[in-house]
Parts: sequence; C-alpha cells; structure tokens
Amino acid sequence: MKVLSFGSLNYDHVYQVDHFVKPKETMSSMSYARGFGGKGLNQSIAMAKAGLDVYHAGMVGSDGQDFIDYLVQWGVKVDYLVKNNEIATGHAIIEVCNGENCIILHGGANQAIGDRQIDETLSHFEKGDVLLIQNEISDLAYLIRKAHEKDMKIVFNTAPMNDLVFTYPLDLVDIFVVNEVEGAGLAGIESEDYEEIIKALQKKFKDTVVVMTVGGNGSYYIYNDEVIHQDAFKVKAVDTTAAGDTFTGFFLASYLKDNDVKKALELASKASSITVQGHGAAQSIPSIKDLI
Ligand SMILES: Nc1ncnc2c1ncn2[C@@H]1O[C@H](COP(=O)(O)OP(=O)(O)O)[C@@H](O)[C@H]1O
Ligand SMILES: [Mg+2]
Repeated sequence: MKVLSFGSLNYDHVYQVDHFVKPKETMSSMSYARGFGGKGLNQSIAMAKAGLDVYHAGMVGSDGQDFIDYLVQWGVKVDYLVKNNEIATGHAIIEVCNGENCIILHGGANQAIGDRQIDETLSHFEKGDVLLIQNEISDLAYLIRKAHEKDMKIVFNTAPMNDLVFTYPLDLVDIFVVNEVEGAGLAGIESEDYEEIIKALQKKFKDTVVVMTVGGNGSYYIYNDEVIHQDAFKVKAVDTTAAGDTFTGFFLASYLKDNDVKKALELASKASSITVQGHGAAQSIPSIKDLI
C-alpha cells in the first residue's frame, strides 16, 4: 500500500508591523521571516514522521526548489511533485501586529493543478493505495473521481471549509477529517454543539468514517451509529499551528497500519499534544520514535 498526499505548498512571508498597511501607504516592516506552510505540506511531513512511506504530489513554481529540498529533508518522496517555471509557488503575505494578523493568500501553483497532472500522477498508484487531500488545490472533483475509479481509499480533510467542497463528489470519500467548525460546515448546520454536529454528520454521511477533532476537548471517530471519543492530553499549549495536521498524519499512519481506531486516536492525540507545546509547524511535529 502506497500513500499519496496530493496537496498545497505555500511560502509564508511574515512581516511584523506596528499597524496594518492603509490605502495609499507605503510602510516598512520591523522584521521579516519566511516559513514553509500549506496544509498539504504539514500533513505529508506528519505522515512521514509517523513512519509512513508518503509521496507528496503537487506543484511549485520557479522559486520552489527550497520546498522540494524541505520535503526530502523530512523523508517525504517527491517523485510526483511538479515544478512549473511559468508560475509562482503558492504564498501568503502575513502582516502581524499585536498578536493579530492580516493575510493575502495567492494560490499560485497550487491552483494550476489540472487533469493532465492528475492522470500522470495517479498512473503510479493502484487499488488499495491511499489518497489524502485538503481543500487548497485546484481540480479536486476530477482527482476524487479518478482516484475512486482506481479503487484508491480517499481521505479528505475539508479545510479550509467553503462552498466549493459541496461541488465535489463527496459520496466517493471514505474518510473525512474535520475540526468542529469544518464538521458543522460539512454537515450543513450552524452549531457549536458537538452532539448536534455528530448527529448531523451521521445523518448526512452513511457508511463513511468521519474523524472530528475538537481542540483541547479531544476528538471523535464517527461511523454510522458508532461514536468513539478520545480526550486530549492535558498539556500547556503555546502554539496550536499544525495540531490538526499532526493529528491527521498520525491517525492515518496508525489506522492504516493496525486498523485499530482507539489506538490510532490515542497516538494522534499524543502526537498533537506535543505539537501544541512547540512553536512553528513542521519542526514542532514529533517523530514516531519519540512517542513509543
Ligand atoms: N490545547 C490543547 N491541548 C492538548 N491537545 C490539543 C490542544 N489543542 C489541540 N490538541 C490536539 O490536537 C488535535 C487537533 O486540534 P484541533 O484544534 O481540533 O485541530 P485544527 O488545528 O484543525 O483546528 C485535537 O484533537 C487534540 O488532540
Ligand atoms: Mg481548532
């Protein structure tokens, strides 16, 4: 069984400012840092650190060699990562002021993925292989359909949640991974009540696994009438960036290997409780050997 993570890669350009830039203003920043981001990137790294053999497919632009090196450094395979010199790598311009931020996102290469690249990539995968996606790349409806035709297992983290999600063939998804906000959105209700969200998900997605994380309140595995809850580990959280991505990566690694839901929920919770105790994304994700 091979695991294909087909997802986003984004440079985060982070500027500290003393106020947010205004119309007609040219402003100097107080500092600048560049980071590697994108839900696709973080989840690929989490799966690799959880011990899975993972291929990351996606697209970067002419400025994207660093990304390829970064994935390789964390043990992710990049055979199906395309470099397109005509386009910019996806990026976010982030102004940070007093703990608040303003963000301009440019999908770039992530939004230039199309049928041809998908066909070429999937030609290397077969029945029983796993596809993990999030909602940050183009042509997802086609990708889901083609992966289903090949009898691949499809795991969809519907983040960020928006109306586009409902244009995809969701009935072909095997496992959804959501947080509480995405869970309510996916169920089509406005609610912050976990019980209500779970009921609505059960009604809407029969015979489909839904894994819903609820931050410091833990996580749920939902499959028809079966609901399993896992508490979060009690820790002091300093930065929750990539908590959900860590959870997804470790849950899948364990679940695919042992098919034991409780064990997978526990391992994923333990891993993400370590991620929230460190700053940053990939570097705060633990390795499987630190957990057992
Ligand atoms: N404050 C916290 N303390 C301990 N574990 C946490 C904390 N926040 C998140 N986690 C763990 O990370 C998982 C995912 O976090 P969550 O916030 O639900 O995801 P997302 O980042 O997608 O919103 C949770 O199910 C939990 O196991
Ligand atoms: Mg959350």
